[in-house]
Amino acid sequence: MGMNNENASRARADYRNWMPKGMVYTFLAGAIGCGAAAILLGLVLNGTLKTVLTVAFAALAVILCGMTVWALLMRRAFSYDGRRQMSRQIIEGTAAHVKLPAGGRCLDVGCGSGALAIAVAKRNPKAEVVGIDRWGKEYASFNKSLCEDNARAEGVKRISFQQGDATHLGFSDETFDAVVSNYVYHNIPGDRQQYLLETLRTLKKGGSFALHDIFSKSKYGDMQAFVTHLKDMGYQKVELIDTTDGRFMTKFEAAWMGLSGSALLTGIK
Ligand SMILES: C[S@@+](CC[C@H](N)C(=O)[O-])C[C@H]1O[C@@H](n2cnc3c(N)ncnc32)[C@H](O)[C@@H]1O
Repeated sequence: MGMNNENASRARADYRNWMPKGMVYTFLAGAIGCGAAAILLGLVLNGTLKTVLTVAFAALAVILCGMTVWALLMRRAFSYDGRRQMSRQIIEGTAAHVKLPAGGRCLDVGCGSGALAIAVAKRNPKAEVVGIDRWGKEYASFNKSLCEDNARAEGVKRISFQQGDATHLGFSDETFDAVVSNYVYHNIPGDRQQYLLETLRTLKKGGSFALHDIFSKSKYGDMQAFVTHLKDMGYQKVELIDTTDGRFMTKFEAAWMGLSGSALLTGIK
C-alpha cells in the first residue's frame, strides 16, 4: 500500500549526536597512524632512539585507541536510538522548565540540530520558537536545513532557525518571553558569565530562562556569585540545579563522560 503525500514528507527527525563522528574517526586515524609509526620505526631504527621512539608512538597509539573507545561509548549514551538516550532526557528535562503564553516567543541559543527548540515548540504549540546557531565545523553534521527538516518531521510549524553567534546575539533587549540553551557556552572560549548575560539581555522582564551547561569553576568561575549577582539585579527564583544527581545523569556518567558540573540555571527576569 502506498503512503499518502503527508506521511511521505514526514521522515523521522534525526537529531544526530553531540559526539561528532569526525572526532571518532580522528582518534581512530591517530591510533592507526601512531601504531604504524611504532612498527615502522622499530624496523628501520637501532639503539636508544629506536627504543624511545617506538615506545612513545606505541604509548600514543594505546592512548588514542582508548579515546576512540571512549568516543564510541559517548555516542552510544547520547544516541536518540540507543538504550540510554541521555540527550533526549536532557532536552526534555530542560524544555519542561519553559511555559510560554499563547503568542509568546522563545529563543534557543546554539540550537544544533534543533532538538531543544523543537521540544519547547511541541510543549508550547501556541508559541513561537527561534533557534540560532553558528553551525561551525566542530559540529559539522548540524546545520539550518537539518533543523528545518526535523521541525517538519515533528510536525512543528511555529519555529524558525537562523545563523547567529551566542556572544553577540542579533536581537534587541527584551525580545523573548523565554530563553533556553543546552551545552553551548562551554564550547566558547572567553568570559562565559558574559555570554549568559548576553542571552539574558534578550529576555523580557518577567520572562523565564532554562540554561543547561557544564557550569564547573574551571569553565565559568564562581557561579554562586553569578546567581547572587542575578538576584541583586532583580531576577527572581534563580536556581542552579545540579543535573548530575540522577535528574539528567548519574555522577558516575558525568565523570566518565566529562560532564561533571552539569547544571540547569533557571529563574525569572
Ligand atoms: C553540543 S552542541 C548542542 C546543540 C543543541 N543545543 C542540543 O542540545 O542538541 C553545541 C552547539 O553549540 C553551537 N555553538 C558553539 N559556539 C557557538 C556560538 N558562538 N554561537 C552559537 N552557537 C554556537 C555549536 O554549533 C553546536 O551546535
